Parts: sequence; structure tokens; C-alpha cells
Amino acid sequence: MRFVKGEIWLQKKGAYAIIKNSMEKCTKAGYNELIVKGKCLNGQNYFLNGRIQNMRMTKKVTAMALASMMALSLAGCGGSSSTTATTAAATEAAKETTAAATEAAKEAATTAAAAAATTDVADKKVGISIYKFDDNFMTLYRTELVRYLTEDLGFKAENVVVQDGKGDQAEQTNQIQNFITQKYDVLILNLVQASSAPEITDMCKEAGIPVVYINREPDATEEERWESEGLNATYVGCDARQSGTYQGEEILETANKGDINSDGKVSYIMIQGDPENVDAQYRTEFSVKALTDAGMEVEELLKQRGDWDQAKAQQIAQDALNQYGDKIEVIFCNNDAMALGALQAIEAAGRKVNEDIYLVGVDALTEAVQNVIDGKQTGTVFNNHFAQAQAASDIAVKFLSGEKVDAVNMVNYEKVTKDNAQEILDMLK
Ligand code: GAL
Repeated sequence: MRFVKGEIWLQKKGAYAIIKNSMEKCTKAGYNELIVKGKCLNGQNYFLNGRIQNMRMTKKVTAMALASMMALSLAGCGGSSSTTATTAAATEAAKETTAAATEAAKEAATTAAAAAATTDVADKKVGISIYKFDDNFMTLYRTELVRYLTEDLGFKAENVVVQDGKGDQAEQTNQIQNFITQKYDVLILNLVQASSAPEITDMCKEAGIPVVYINREPDATEEERWESEGLNATYVGCDARQSGTYQGEEILETANKGDINSDGKVSYIMIQGDPENVDAQYRTEFSVKALTDAGMEVEELLKQRGDWDQAKAQQIAQDALNQYGDKIEVIFCNNDAMALGALQAIEAAGRKVNEDIYLVGVDALTEAVQNVIDGKQTGTVFNNHFAQAQAASDIAVKFLSGEKVDAVNMVNYEKVTKDNAQEILDMLK
């Protein structure tokens, strides 16, 4: 345990590190305690749970958000530019797939936030379009986008406009066209169909407006094109393979590794999000892959799309429980809204989670995390909307200040089980 004034104090505690900060003079109201240098003292990577006190943003944050907040504090207070942000790390496997990208996102956020101090954003207009407002996770995400842009980055509330794509790409494309006609300075877009990215990117390019895509990742060919053609377009999101892997690991961490009836195989149903969405595809694939990679035999009883929707998932789970009964050992849901629906069906069928059936989701909706604590959901995966919203906003500012932006910026997921669910819930509240 070491504390060096002016640096972050890290104490390893299980899988977490607790961060404390030092006092520094700060002229910006509300920011009377801040981190001046973020540095892993032992050079190791950890999942971090930081606490920043007496700031307007008092939530505990994971490393990505922390990195961006640190930079912001510095930018707001004219701090040193030699800030080194700390790094988040997931499991070894996840490290390989996402660490480099996370590093890129962190760096982008750090420099972008520093740029926010010099770029006058007060009169800049940000157009945001969400694929549909009626989505639990994207509601949390857009709330944080607006809060962060206005409260922390200094955009005027009337200059941050959020539109509802209503699940209709044609309608959303029209909205984007209107943003362009009205000369918005930067766009943050959660596309209805990620496959529309080439068309939308070209529209923005013609108008000279940078675009930050969020949540629904365009394909690799399109992302490479942004690089090769030097387009002002980028993606901020998470690597959905990591969330799928974590779901599988949560099942492997149970006493019988998901094989409740000891017949030598894990029999499951898979309730998918919108299958056009890469999050749905990867979570479906990698959750099961984690089991087979660990040598488990699996049997897929059913795979059906629930479109991220609680009511649809409830119906799917109810029908499956009627049809397959006790054969179902695991219900994989591509998100928590659907896990909440599946739980209603499980309870109605008189089954008991963690006793005769396992249930996992993704997102870490507060209700789902509470269910993990109460033993009504086996696990979930934190889809960090704070970090993603902040990275997307910081990168938008980076574009406004004319800086170069990487094509892909990834934020880490975090596994949520009974062991850390209370901590995650405290952070979310
Ligand atoms: C996923 C999230 C889902 C849903 C979807 C929308 O990342 O887990 O709950 O919001 O994005 O694209």
C-alpha cells in the first residue's frame, strides 16, 4: 500500500483496486478534490472502482470513466498535461481481444477531454439519434450522454438535441438529414441498422460533419474505409465477444458448471436480441463457446429472437418451459431486459434460479443486479453506459477541435456475479 501525494493511491483488494485522490487547488466550482496524476503504481492492469469525492459526478466509476473524468478535472483546472490514465483489464482472454482498443479509447478520451478546455463548445450543436427510445439500456445511455455533454463538457442544453429513431431506419435517416441541413457541428448516432453506416457516413462527409457511431457497430469494411479515406467517422462501443464469454464463464463458475441434471451436457435456450445487431450475434456465439472451450458438451434446445424486449422474452421462455420443462438447465439472454422477462416465466413455472435453472443477461440494469443479489438471476455483465457515453462525447469534442480520432474505441465490459453485485449496484445508484 503506497500513497504518493499527487498520484493515485492504489490498494489491491481482491479483483478490485480502490483509488483515493489527493487535494489540489482547483478554481472550477464543485471540483475541490481531484486526481492529478493517474498512475498504476505497480504498472499492473486492474479493474478499477474509483471514488472521486466532492465533485458533481460522485458515482464510483470503472476505469474508462475514471480516465475520462481525471482528464476532465485536469482540463478544467489547468492541470499538467502529463496525465497518465489508469487502465482497466478484464480476464486474460478479454485482455487479448480488448485491451489495445480500450487503451485507444482511454487515450482518445484523455486528450479529447483536455481539448474540451480549449475548444469553445458553448455554441456547438450536437445532434444525437437513438435507434429507439423504448429500450431500457439505451435510455440509460442517452440520459448520461445529455448529462455529460451539458453538465461536464459545457454544451448548452438547447444545443444538444436527441431524436428517437423509432426503430425505423428511413425515419432516422430523415432525422440525420435534418441535422445536416440545420448545420449541426457533430453527430452521435445509434443507428437502427448498422448496415446503413456507409450511406450515412457519406452524407456526413459531403456536409463536412464528423460522426460518432455508438452501440451498434458498423462492419469492419466500413470502419477500415474511415481509416483509409481519412473520414471523420468513428465507433465507440464494447466488444460483444467479451460479454458473451463472461456469460459463459458465469455458468462455468456454478457448482455443476451448468449441468444441473448431471447428464453430461448443458441444455440451454438462447433468447437473442435483434439478430442484425452484432451484440446479439457475438453474445449468442461466445457465451456457448466459453462452455465448449472449457470442455463442456452443450445442447441447444431453442434459439429465438426476443428483440431485446422483456415481454417478448417472457413469452419465449414461457413457451420453452412448457415444451422442454426440466430439460432446460440454462437460459441465456442477450440482455437483462429479456432476462427479467425470462425470470417472470421461470417463477410462473415454479422453477428456482440457481437451484434447478440458471439465468444470465447483459447490461447490469439495476433490477437485474438486484436479482443477482437476491439469487434470482445467476449473473449479468455490466455494459458500461457511463464510460461509453463519456467516451463518445469526449471524442465528439476531439473532432470539433480538429484532432485525429481512431476508427474504433472500445470500452470494457465487467462481469457481475453475487460476489460483486452489491458494489456494482452502489455504483449504479
Ligand atoms: C446492447 C444492449 C441491449 C440493447 C442493444 C441496442 O448493447 O445490451 O440491451 O440496448 O444494445 O442496440
